[in-house]
Amino acid sequence: MTAVCFSDLGNTVVCVESNPEKLALVASGEVPFYEEGLKEKLGRYLDKERLSFTASISEMVQHSEIIFLAVGTPSLPDGSVDLSAIYQSVDDIISCLVETQERKIIVTKSTVPVGTNRAIHKKFKEAGLSPIVSVVSNPEFLREGSAVYDFFHPDRIVVGVDNGDEETMAQMGRLYDPLYRLKMPIVKTSWETAELSKYASNAFLATKISFINEIAILCEKTGADVTEVAKLMGMDGRIGAYFLHAGPGYGGACFPKDTVGLIDIAKHVGYDLQVVKAVQKVNEGQVSRIVEHLKSFFEGGLRGKKIGVLGLAFKPNTDDIRESKSISLVEKLLTLGASVVAYDPEAMVLAQQELSEVTYVEDAYQVATDVDMLILATEWNVFRELDLERLKSLMKQPYFVDLRNVYSPEVLQKNGFKGYVLGRELTL
Ligand code: UGA
Repeated sequence: MTAVCFSDLGNTVVCVESNPEKLALVASGEVPFYEEGLKEKLGRYLDKERLSFTASISEMVQHSEIIFLAVGTPSLPDGSVDLSAIYQSVDDIISCLVETQERKIIVTKSTVPVGTNRAIHKKFKEAGLSPIVSVVSNPEFLREGSAVYDFFHPDRIVVGVDNGDEETMAQMGRLYDPLYRLKMPIVKTSWETAELSKYASNAFLATKISFINEIAILCEKTGADVTEVAKLMGMDGRIGAYFLHAGPGYGGACFPKDTVGLIDIAKHVGYDLQVVKAVQKVNEGQVSRIVEHLKSFFEGGLRGKKIGVLGLAFKPNTDDIRESKSISLVEKLLTLGASVVAYDPEAMVLAQQELSEVTYVEDAYQVATDVDMLILATEWNVFRELDLERLKSLMKQPYFVDLRNVYSPEVLQKNGFKGYVLGRELTL
């Protein structure tokens, strides 16, 4: 994303990839994941020779004034963040620079714990390179599925630099200047503030989701409607309308990892981060709570039942199934002895690798055929205007479960469905 979008802003970008298969794929103009608009831009800038890919770090270092670290920083089993790819990249860059002694700006895009950019700076200093190398923390706020749009319309661009490093700040300002002209604020701050602002933003959005998911439980128990409660809350500008959609919990590669990461950052400075721990606990319990409720629909539970699942990606417009709540739901259904048939517009290839016991079909109506229950788990647009009459006529039993509030209980009831709409109607 970073390489392609900076080419789009007029820069010449050399991108290093260590995995030979991925390298061959991107160099031939293919994107190894689904992201709207990215493939087209990749092809355009490869053709214009403004974007190239290589396996050679020294080639990249030689051609670049500004070097972005955009490597993975996954969670380790103990909750800490695995920074091995970051430090490996830094060591590789140091070995190239020791020879050439050229000025470079090293920008950390990857999400890294507080203190990492200072540690990177220390490594360059120890190698005698601190006079020529400046380190910048420039966290990423893109969402998967709308990453290209988000790159060009950021709410803010956070640039963490060493105290007093005005020259680097000016160079980063020039890099982001085309976006700045669109009035996107570039905010100068310290390394630590930049690093923490990333974790705090993700953890806060996760907090909104777990909060509304608990309110959804209260709605189910009291007869209130979570979509309306969320709408009314969102009308208060201090609260904001975004990220108040109740559902099966947050998933993906960021919120689960970054909430765990923030708890670990707090632990290292001797603080117990209670709110985020509660956010995580609510999120982890959400699928089990839903499955317990679904079990109650059938005498004898879900054993032997055929269940259709609409959507497997962790959210729409992506093929990403990492930490997908839909996938955990399917796993639980299988464990309870149900059989599962599923469809997702983009995520089936990856889902097949993870869940071979599932029957994968080509559309929502094939999913519905002969099932005892149909669950809408990911709110792809293609599931928004389904022919409900046709769906029901195909099903063995008319249980519809809407975990994303796409359909109102009234519409489902009118079409003769039984079942459950999360946060609105416990039993139709
Ligand atoms: C998230 C942040 O939104 C980005 O700003 C950030 O840059 C990114 O993480 C990252 O750290 O790289 P992303 O993981 O792509 O982006 O997806 P989101 O759109 O934030 O959704 C995350 C999860 O929350 C999904 O499972 C989604 O279904 C769920 N969600 C989201 C809800 O259940 N309710 C909502 O109201 C919003």
